[in-house]
Amino acid sequence: MRLAILSQSRRLYSTHRLLAAARRERIEAHVVDYLECRVRMTTDRLEVVSRGKPLSSFDAIIPRVPSSETAQGCMIVRQLEHLGARSPNGADAIERSRDKLRAMQDLGAAGLPIPPTAVAHPARETRDLVEDVGGAPVVVKLIEGTQGVGVILCETLQAAEAVVDAIRSLRGRYLVQRFIAEARGSDLRYFVVGDTVVAAMRRTAQPGEFRSNLHRGGEVEGIAPDPDEAAIAVRAAKTLGLGVAGVDLLRSEDGPMLLEVNSSPGLEGIEKATGIDVARAIVRHVAQR
Ligand SMILES: Nc1ncnc2c1ncn2[C@@H]1O[C@H](COP(=O)(O)OP(=O)(O)O)[C@@H](O)[C@H]1O
Ligand SMILES: [Mg+2]
Repeated sequence: MRLAILSQSRRLYSTHRLLAAARRERIEAHVVDYLECRVRMTTDRLEVVSRGKPLSSFDAIIPRVPSSETAQGCMIVRQLEHLGARSPNGADAIERSRDKLRAMQDLGAAGLPIPPTAVAHPARETRDLVEDVGGAPVVVKLIEGTQGVGVILCETLQAAEAVVDAIRSLRGRYLVQRFIAEARGSDLRYFVVGDTVVAAMRRTAQPGEFRSNLHRGGEVEGIAPDPDEAAIAVRAAKTLGLGVAGVDLLRSEDGPMLLEVNSSPGLEGIEKATGIDVARAIVRHVAQR
């Protein structure tokens, strides 16, 4: 079997771990920098060209595409899928998960628990959206934000209106969400591979911060997965069509709520917090299918 890990550098922790895991499983694995690739297509021929040469075919790929490169990354993933490579996370699924609004709609439609969320045409009143989710405080979120950037806690209606006006003036897309205060700056990351949760951790925000992202200085500890939450996480990944996913949940007064489903979840935080070989689980899953 020939495997490609689509990543900008083999020096990145996750890429390095996946490559090493593949080699331990005796799989021929290559790191392909999708930024260096272009696609070529005619009626009867599709190609991916890397550094001047067409890539030979792969049986499977593991995409590691950050939000900043969704378009280029998904272009290459899609082309390789058309060329016969299987991917735990296909291009469509990655695109679906990157759009927080679409993901909330699809998760809600599947009957999965999500925080009350509202969106309207930007010309409409922000007040209505804030009322829809139960009134201030609310979280205003950029639909394509990541690493906690563009997730803003607005204590009052006036603050929410000002934030929304600023985003509108920059032509950004946003949603308004109920602030789950009782989560107290903690969220849970369930790492899903195939039909199972392979590892789970709690992330806790720094004092004075409500966003628990590691990039915002959040701290991590491994936890034993709760069976109900694990079942929700697996269903969330399935709903979005992801075979590998970092599913983020908040514990609210009304039970667990899904915040986000990440299609290129980092391995460093979860492996170090839990001591679990997540890279091996991913590689074995991809090799089995
Ligand atoms: N509705 C909310 N209520 C309480 N905390 C929230 C809410 N939405 C987000 N957060 C906090 O902010 C963090 C970042 O939000 P998230 O939606 O995951 O965006 P990003 O893609 O930037 O990580 C979450 O991990 C969580 O700690
Ligand atoms: Mg997040």
